[in-house]
Amino acid sequence: MATMTSLIGLINKIQSACTVLGDHGGQGMSLWEALPTVAVVGGQSSGKSSVLESVVGRDFLPRGSGIVTRRPLVLQLHKTNDEQQEYAEFLHQSRKRYTDFAAVRQEISDETDRITGKTKAISNVPIQLSIYSPHVVNLTLVDLPGLTKVAVEGQSESIVQDIENMVRSYIEKPNCIILAISPANQDIATSDAIKIAREVDPSGERTFGVLTKLDLMDKGTNAVEVLEGRQYRLQHPWVGIVNRSQADINKNVDMIVARRKEREYFETSPEYGHLAHKMGAEYLAKLLSEHLEYVIRQKIPSIIALINKAIDELNAELDRIGRPIAVDSGAKLYTILQMCRAFDKIFKEHLD
Ligand code: GDP
Ligand code: NA
Ligand code: MG
Repeated sequence: MATMTSLIGLINKIQSACTVLGDHGGQGMSLWEALPTVAVVGGQSSGKSSVLESVVGRDFLPRGSGIVTRRPLVLQLHKTNDEQQEYAEFLHQSRKRYTDFAAVRQEISDETDRITGKTKAISNVPIQLSIYSPHVVNLTLVDLPGLTKVAVEGQSESIVQDIENMVRSYIEKPNCIILAISPANQDIATSDAIKIAREVDPSGERTFGVLTKLDLMDKGTNAVEVLEGRQYRLQHPWVGIVNRSQADINKNVDMIVARRKEREYFETSPEYGHLAHKMGAEYLAKLLSEHLEYVIRQKIPSIIALINKAIDELNAELDRIGRPIAVDSGAKLYTILQMCRAFDKIFKEHLD
């Protein structure tokens, strides 16, 4: 039997296939919806992009004040064994390998503009990015635009509601694991992330509470009540995070240094020392990966059923087009069908 790590790798491949499949009509969506993903939600500047980068262990996301993330970013992390190789690929540029992560950041920004123009508008069309690295855990993450309270200059009045609707469309799916980001320097009772997460997941069974900016809390206050789950109860433990400050970013403090500083922060903290082993971005990544594996294991039977349904639909479509197929769309369908068959076989092996 293959390891769970390779099972998550398979899920990632299926998600890519589903995105392609989605171009051909409805078949893709039901399969996509069956697969677990982790979506990052929170208010603007709550630290979403910083947490994502920290979980990945690389700098590659466009950042800045205001609305930077304007399209969903579907980010697939693939753990590899090759110490020498670390690269990224976009689905919209399938043959181009990026080894320069600053160029990845630039392409996310350019690809956002290609759909929305250089405006402050948002789009539902996701950007899909894969990162292959020996330093990541196998995980699929979705970065979403930050929740806001008011439209700013250059945005339509509907933007507040549009963002909320987009976020909800991802996190309302029962298979979505919600990474709810709240800044520690604001009262948890006012957290946009917790508010929307509670709406779609009232029991808190698929919500992970993440508290950022612990280092920015007012002197004399601390977040022990929240981190110990006594202020707002979730079924999973809260994870406290110390990301790089804007000054750190401006000084180009790298990820390795940032992680070390974060560890030191918790280990030497009088308030959080007793929680240090359950805090920080690395611990969060591990927690998420373990939970994802648990969820996938439970989902295998329903995924097999959906794959079989997709195979039937694709077969019918191929019969309608007529085989053998020369036209491009038929060839694509055929490739996807082959992939579905291969996945089906492997999933069945995992059931034994
Ligand atoms: P996003 O808008 O939710 O994606 O938030 P970003 O990750 O872009 O962070 C917004 C700003 O807050 C940036 O200037 C970050 O450097 C800063 N920031 C985020 N998390 C922390 C943190 O834990 N501590 C400190 N000091 N600054 C943080
Ligand atoms: Na921001
Ligand atoms: Mg962001």
